[in-house]
Amino acid sequence: MIIQTEPFIDQSDLKILKKVIARKYVTEDKYTKIFENKIKSYTRSKYAISVNNWTSGLYCCLKAFNIGPGDEVIVPNLTFIATSNAVLMTGATLVLCEVNQDDMCIDINKLEKLINKKTKAVIPVHLYGNCCNMKEIIKFKKKYKFAVIEDAAQALGVRYKDKHVGNFGDCGGFSFYGNKIMTTGEGGIIITNNKNLAKKIYKLKNHGRDKKGIFKHQSIGFNFMFTELQAALGISQLNKLDKILKKRDQIFNFYCKNINDKNKIKLHLNDKSIKPLHWFVNITAKNISKISRELKKIGFQTRKLFYPLNLQPCYKNHENVKNLNSDFTISKKTYQNVLSLPTFHNIKKKDLKKICNLINKF
Ligand SMILES: Cc1ncc(COP(=O)(O)O)c(C=O)c1O
Repeated sequence: MIIQTEPFIDQSDLKILKKVIARKYVTEDKYTKIFENKIKSYTRSKYAISVNNWTSGLYCCLKAFNIGPGDEVIVPNLTFIATSNAVLMTGATLVLCEVNQDDMCIDINKLEKLINKKTKAVIPVHLYGNCCNMKEIIKFKKKYKFAVIEDAAQALGVRYKDKHVGNFGDCGGFSFYGNKIMTTGEGGIIITNNKNLAKKIYKLKNHGRDKKGIFKHQSIGFNFMFTELQAALGISQLNKLDKILKKRDQIFNFYCKNINDKNKIKLHLNDKSIKPLHWFVNITAKNISKISRELKKIGFQTRKLFYPLNLQPCYKNHENVKNLNSDFTISKKTYQNVLSLPTFHNIKKKDLKKICNLINKF
């Protein structure tokens, strides 16, 4: 079975991992600093704070804004559940917002209608390597005064007018989970250009203290620390990121060229200012279950989209989820009609061809 996605791991990753293990200092130290500095220069942000995963990262960002019970946080209805769970973990109220059909990102017209005095933050999600309409979201931020935390878990490498995502709001972050564009196993990083916020976030992830090795704690924090092993992998993966992104573009172009009905390939926003990332190639079709079944028969795994949050069984009747019964037709339809095709660095051309041929039969 050719799986839907896998990380691009090779000898260069093993080489640096061996070096770090041989050093025997495995908790956060100089390799973590090197990795953070590399992320800072890649994204052109002033501060980068690594965390054990981006779910903890999101939680830290929300806590850094003192978000908690009584506050409202707006999240798109179509995202991986970690985005919304981080909000619920703070005790705040989760407010769901419908997404656009074309880019699957938060619908800014619907967003404005959900903003009120209790709104303390909005979390735009750059889903599947698309880019949210940050220009409008930042206009709202200025008008209504709330925090913007960009969930760029799937969007390392995405730029709008040459500015990297994560730099538009107060802070943003990336996930390095195994299926992401680059991986550290588990892991994540927060970027910000705000010194005070960076300090607060670092403190929160490091047991409430400014640095390691001191045992008098002025505030309560958590242990969301990174490891040198993750940093080692992160450094070598980041060194290959441009190569990975280029290959993803080629895979996307191959699918576009070889699937006969161009309307069936879900394209990213037709905005020349956006440099998206083709994390997964998604097709829109009425019969995705059949396509998925037939592809499985010839040895290819596919993946459905994230399940809309308003339909999540664990949120049913949840007292802290505000608008479960609003109209979320677009997210539901998108979930029903979009399928992620095999998309990863080492996929062979002959396999891509087989996938396209089968899709063309439908
Ligand atoms: C959109 C989105 N948000 C948040 C997360 C959580 O990241 P992590 O798995 O690093 O905790 C993920 C991915 O896993 C994600 O895809």
